[in-house]
Amino acid sequence: MFQSPPNVAKTIQITFEEKTYQVAPAQTVAAALMGEGHLMLRKSLVSGETRAAFCMMGICFDCLLEIDGQPNQQSCMIQVREGMNIQRQLKKGECA
Ligand code: FES
Repeated sequence: MFQSPPNVAKTIQITFEEKTYQVAPAQTVAAALMGEGHLMLRKSLVSGETRAAFCMMGICFDCLLEIDGQPNQQSCMIQVREGMNIQRQLKKGECA
């Protein structure tokens, strides 16, 4: 369903959930993760249902991730950077 842009070199290395990925630059964290097949980014704190990035423009907050130790980052609004360490926030009460 989602793919990395064709003919764009994957020159940025990120780590997601302890696995490393080479991704294309000039894209958001959410886009890069979806391009690698990671659609589920978090779970609802209320219902426990899995959530995926939805609006991709900073409105729905369904893309919250911990990025470089900072929780509750809107991954659809943050560009990938070399060496990023990204984690899901799956434990109840982790949302600040
Ligand atoms: S996908 Fe909606 S705020 Fe990020």
